[in-house]
Amino acid sequence: MPAAVYVVSIDPQASTVWWANRITDLPFDFSQEHETPENLAVLKDTGAKVHVIANQKGGVGKTTTTLNVGAIVAEVLKDATTLKHVFIDTPGSLQDEALLLEALKYATDVIVPMPPEGLAFDPTARTIEKVIQPAGLPFHVVINNWDPRDGTADLEDTQAYIDAQGWPRTRTVIRRYKVHTRASVEGKVVTQYPKNRVAMEAREDFFRLALELGYGGGK
Ligand SMILES: Nc1ncnc2c1ncn2[C@@H]1O[C@H](COP(=O)(O)OP(=O)(O)OP(=O)(O)O)[C@@H](O)[C@H]1O
Ligand SMILES: [Mg+2]
Repeated sequence: MPAAVYVVSIDPQASTVWWANRITDLPFDFSQEHETPENLAVLKDTGAKVHVIANQKGGVGKTTTTLNVGAIVAEVLKDATTLKHVFIDTPGSLQDEALLLEALKYATDVIVPMPPEGLAFDPTARTIEKVIQPAGLPFHVVINNWDPRDGTADLEDTQAYIDAQGWPRTRTVIRRYKVHTRASVEGKVVTQYPKNRVAMEAREDFFRLALELGYGGGK
């Protein structure tokens, strides 16, 4: 029986594969395709929705978002008998733009993770204006890595910036939790976190994001 969720990385840096290899009992199918991006063409015939996670700024949370939203959706759709959702993790660099463009050919929509910091504004704008909007694809900016202990000023500035650009933004904000950073080292996705309060809160953000984007529904 095919899994409902398939996660693909086309990042030559392959931190996704490094992570995925460490995860025991991956809750989804996974493959690394940066050397063979033409393989993505098979996605056209699957009928699955293809979500590309993109931001050419490095380190904004693309891999974290891809694996964790993928894990949540896989859990919600664990009884599905066909492939429903594909998540493609893409490179955080301008040099690898051709790979990103290849993935966008098959995309249903794009998720753009962005941290709440001014340094991320211009690079994120470049990806959206030069790559995503010209492809004519629906997209959502997701603020990731917000630490509530820092107060709301940076978060509000970032929300105001996104809104001023006229970009769609999710209401869900992914908060910064040590457990996410640690998880990449330990080889865990959110659905495998321990059942303590903090881990549940951390997991909640990805659950709300998947719900808001409508990925769990529609069966
Ligand atoms: N919400 C979060 N809370 C805590 N740590 C986070 C969060 N999001 C990302 N990180 C950490 O930040 C680092 C960068 O995240 P990640 O690897 O997902 O970014 P990326 O956009 O995929 O980077 P690259 O462009 O290099 O592929 C990782 O160490 C990750 O664990
Ligand atoms: Mg990455």
